[in-house]
Amino acid sequence: MLEKLKDILQRARQDIERASDLDALDEIKRKYLGRSKGELTALSKKLGSLPKEERPTAGRLVNEAKKEITSKLKSLADKFSKSDALLEHGRLKSSVDPSLPGRTRAYGRLHPITQVMSEICQVFQVMGFSIADGPEVEEDFYNFEALNIPPDHPARDMQDTFYIEEDKILLRTHTSPIQIRAMKTMSPPVRIVAPGKVYRCDSDVTHTPMFHQVEGLMVDKNVSFSQLKGTLTQFIHRMFEPSTKVRFRPSYFPFTEPSAEVDIQCVKCHGAGCRLCGHTGWMEVLGAGMVHPAVFRNVGYDPDEISGFAFGLGVERIAMLKYSIDDIRLFYDNDIRFLDQF
Ligand code: FA5
Repeated sequence: MLEKLKDILQRARQDIERASDLDALDEIKRKYLGRSKGELTALSKKLGSLPKEERPTAGRLVNEAKKEITSKLKSLADKFSKSDALLEHGRLKSSVDPSLPGRTRAYGRLHPITQVMSEICQVFQVMGFSIADGPEVEEDFYNFEALNIPPDHPARDMQDTFYIEEDKILLRTHTSPIQIRAMKTMSPPVRIVAPGKVYRCDSDVTHTPMFHQVEGLMVDKNVSFSQLKGTLTQFIHRMFEPSTKVRFRPSYFPFTEPSAEVDIQCVKCHGAGCRLCGHTGWMEVLGAGMVHPAVFRNVGYDPDEISGFAFGLGVERIAMLKYSIDDIRLFYDNDIRFLDQF
């Protein structure tokens, strides 16, 4: 029995020395001291079968062995749990800084040009205009010919065109072809605005090769130039300040007669002259005029029966004036620091 006890104690000591974590200690405890299968427990159960005189010594030795194993397991368990706690503490300390601000989600929003374009449309919708649409890849007929700009007309040079198929298919240079499409499908009265992208071979601080226009068209009996002036002045006063100065300058478009260009006083320098307005104090925002009789005839309307006005405004120009931006290209640089301000 003593030999067996010696052997158990020796193996238990070795196992304890090799243990590297709390799980290993649990396993050792079960192996030697476990209630049902512990080796030392089994040995102590055999004490009763020893001769009476040997029992006290053997009993004492078994108890001493149990004590030794229990105390070694306990001190080692204390050591392991302390270092686990330290490790956990260190991990927490190095990876989590509770003073840092939380991560916020970056929300998308509408591009400033989209925002301004829908604001423009809303102003006209309140005045009774409805929204119309047309293709960006357009036929020469709608973009030029039906608008009274035949193939050799010098006005074609006013808008440097991106052709897709020579003399036939192009990227629309203005939103005016939508006028033609609308009149070809509707009969008077017509009151529409048509927002969209247009393309021209043009680039500087106030021009980009792709920009946005909103076309407007009103056709009915007895539509007059004073209605055109009233509608556009009202629009500008609603988009900007009601006190904004507006001027109508005589101009030329083949599809309107008479024609005008509309300027508003520079909202940045209030007329004194700055980079935004090209040091003129004014900024052109749109072209307009009374629809030319030849255009009416091209869509099958009778110019003796009806009259109408049309206009085309540059959305980027309006946005630049509204937000005092002096370089149109900023809208298309995709710099989030700029776009985030709207
Ligand atoms: C036209 O495009 C005519 N279709 C407008 C029109 C419609 C007149 C109906 C009469 C009746 P214009 O080329 O001037 O006209 O352009 C109209 C507006 O678009 C200009 O006033 C300007 O604000 C803007 N614009 C013109 N070119 C550019 C460009 N490259 N970049 C940014 N905005 C531009």
